[in-house]
This record gives sequence, C-alpha cells and structure tokens, in this order.
Amino acid sequence: MLDKINDIKEKIQSFSIENEDELEAFRLEFLSRNGKVQSMFGLMKDVPNEKKAEVGKLMNEVKNLAHQTFENAKVELLKSEEKEFGALEDITLPVESTYTGSYHPLNRALNEIKQIFLRLGFNIADGPELEDDFHNFTALNFPPDHPARDMQDTFFVRKSEEEQDLVLRTHTSPVQIRLMKEKEPPLRSIIPGRVFRNEAVTAKSYFQFNQVEGLYVNVRVTMGELIETLVMFAQLMYGSDVKYRVRPSYFPFTEPSIEMDVWWESEKGGQWLEILGAGMVDPNVFESVDVDSEKYTGFAFGMGVDRIAMLRYGIDDIRLLYDNDIRFLEQFKS
Ligand code: PHE
Repeated sequence: MLDKINDIKEKIQSFSIENEDELEAFRLEFLSRNGKVQSMFGLMKDVPNEKKAEVGKLMNEVKNLAHQTFENAKVELLKSEEKEFGALEDITLPVESTYTGSYHPLNRALNEIKQIFLRLGFNIADGPELEDDFHNFTALNFPPDHPARDMQDTFFVRKSEEEQDLVLRTHTSPVQIRLMKEKEPPLRSIIPGRVFRNEAVTAKSYFQFNQVEGLYVNVRVTMGELIETLVMFAQLMYGSDVKYRVRPSYFPFTEPSIEMDVWWESEKGGQWLEILGAGMVDPNVFESVDVDSEKYTGFAFGMGVDRIAMLRYGIDDIRLLYDNDIRFLEQFKS
C-alpha cells in the first residue's frame, strides 16, 4: 500500500509540465475525477483501522503535492507567456517609449521656410502639378521652340492626338501666372509645390523635387526690396551671420535676373551653394496676364526645398527623401 502511494508521489514529482497540453495531461492523470489521487483515496477502505491515520496523512500529502505542482506549473506557464508577449513583470515601471511618427525632413524644411515668409507678410498659395504649355512656358516668356525650353527636361503628358500635350510642371513659376490672372495686385504669395524634371536618378538629382516660389507685385516694387527680402530670408534661415552673395543670372520670366548663394561649411571644407533664382517680373509676363506693366512692377524668386533639407540635416543622397524607409525617417524625431 505504502509503495503504491509513494509511486504516485514519484510520478507527480517527475512529471514535466512545459506547456498547456502537458498541464492538462497532468490534471487528467492526477486531479480529475478518475485521476490517480482520487483513486488512491479509494484504497483507504482496504487499510486496517490502526493504519488509517498514518496512511491518510501520507495520502493527503500526496494530494497537496499534486495540487501544488499543478498551481505552480500554471503560474510559471503564465509568466513565460507574458514574457513572450512583452508584458512587464512590474506593471508600475514606465513603459518603453514607442515610435509615434515624425515630420519628414522635407516638411520640416518647408515649415521653416513658410514661417519665415509668413513673418515677412506673404500668404501661401498653390496650383496644379499637371500644367499646360501656356502656364508652364509661354506665359512665362519662353518663346515657342526657343532653346530656353531645353533648360528644363520636361515630362509631357499626351491627352489625345488632337489636343495639345500637357506637362508635369517643371517649376512652380506657372502658379505666378495663375495668381496674376485670378487677382488684381497687390499680390504677395509664396507657392510651395512639387515639380518634375526628366533627369537621371542619382544621389544628387531626382525626377521630382520641391520648390517654393515667391511673387510680390505692387506699385513701385524695386530690385532693392527683392534683395532685402532675400537677405532677410537667408539670415532667418541660416543664421544672422550667414555669408551670402548675389550673382547676375538669366531666366526668361525675370529681367534682370539673379541667383543667390550661401557659404556652406562642412567636413569637406567650405563652398558656395546656390539656394535660389530670382528677379524682377519681366514686362512680357505682365502682358500675358493683362497686368499693366506701366503701373505695376514685381519680383519673383524660386528655391529648392530638397537642397535646403539635405544641407540642414546632413543628408547626402536625395533618393532617401523619397524612399520613405522607416529607418531613415525615425532619425527625425523632434
Ligand atoms: N523657376 C526657376 C527655376 O525653376 C526659379 C525662379 C523662380 C527664378 C522665380 C526666378 C524667379 O529654376
């Protein structure tokens, strides 16, 4: 009799419970209605009276052992499950912070540019990415078949045999035309937007990028005001000690035309970097939108946002801005 009881005890002790199935197998074998513990107590009737107390005590020990083993194994299993699902042992500890998203570096740069021009009294406008030849070229004083159109490698979009091809805008300047057609001066707007050029994809160039156009039209707008505005921008964007220079340039839609460079220091040394093109609105442009060029003058400028973001955040490959790789974007948590 005692051997039988000790045998059950040993079986309980050597039973391995590593998962839910084994836990259930244990319960069936020892703790169920027909289990070993219950049937062990069935043997009590064969025990002589004077031994009943001793055997009963041993049987109770075995029964408790079975229950303890079951409960302990259940708790252990639960714990390992919690670990698997990442639950913390101490629920009062602060949780690990999770990645909740961040501004794209292009949006960050764009927001800074917007803030600066809002301070300078500009409002924000926009226009379509799919343009016609008139807005993208003709009204901006690109003569038909003039090589000036080759300055920008254009993506053309064919609607039908009969209709004129549309273009993916090659710059944000066509929105100047839309604004001037829509509204009488004074106009003072910036126009952020995506533009497209048929260029080879490399670390330095891409088939799309972002520009911010600026347009100010009023009576007696001067070149001095243009330069003052651009210098103010450069100082607010790059710091009041920024080193800049203004060079003469050429665009069909401005006369005179200029470009602005800022001095940029990096590990590789310093260099001049072109940040924008600008100029006084060409009278031919005013003509094409029926603005009286005797009465009004104006200035316009256009800058690349990608370049600014790349300088600002030390990004050396423009393609990173468009891949949306989470490992890249995660680095711009504020
Ligand atoms: N549209 C020109 C470009 O894309 C930039 C520009 C805008 C120049 C406005 C002068 C005035 O290069």
